[in-house]
Amino acid sequence: MRHRRSVFPDQFEAGRHIPDEIINQILTNASWAPNHGHTEPWHFVVFTNEGLKTFANFQSELYREIAGEKFKEATYQKMKRNPLLASHVIALCMKRDPNKKHPEIEEIAAVACAVENIYLSVAAYGFGGYWTTGGVTYNEKAKSFFGLDEDDRLLGFFYTGYIAVPSPDGKRKPLEEKVVWVRD
Ligand SMILES: Cc1cc2nc3c(=O)[nH]c(=O)nc-3n(C[C@H](O)[C@H](O)[C@H](O)COP(=O)(O)O)c2cc1C
Repeated sequence: MRHRRSVFPDQFEAGRHIPDEIINQILTNASWAPNHGHTEPWHFVVFTNEGLKTFANFQSELYREIAGEKFKEATYQKMKRNPLLASHVIALCMKRDPNKKHPEIEEIAAVACAVENIYLSVAAYGFGGYWTTGGVTYNEKAKSFFGLDEDDRLLGFFYTGYIAVPSPDGKRKPLEEKVVWVRD
């Protein structure tokens, strides 16, 4: 857990493919995350091979459509190029329990637990990866592409690949800043 690091697309060995069977193992680990009321609210859409282009074209063209005056050519090119550096891109989705038994935040929290399982599994296999909420993550128009309905949420994308350039050591604030103990 302490040595897990985010590894970004520019650090991947572009074009090298992780076996799909390993991705299935990683997503099986994801599905063992805790979730309130056994709703298992996670839903994953995995892009690989030519699917990476399908995803890259979708997100870059949607960006072009919605950016308006804020359109930046560099951002457009990054959206078109970055997925092609990965072995797999996994869309991280929350499908809301139809009975809405628990608050939405708990369904989002359960998916975040699943994503941490992905992060740790990817690190354990020696691959690189990271969770991004960039691109079209929070645009309502993106949802249907990933099979999501109005009450569901797109929570971002997990990019993964073989590591060419490792990440530097991470850092965290002193634990005392984050913890309060009550002993009496
Ligand atoms: C919910 C979430 C969203 C994130 N979105 C982005 C992002 O859009 N772009 C990015 O470069 N990193 C993103 N990250 C990765 C963080 O940059 C990374 O976790 C942070 O720098 C700490 O580094 P570490 O993962 O190596 O400990 C995201 C992480 C989380 C948990």
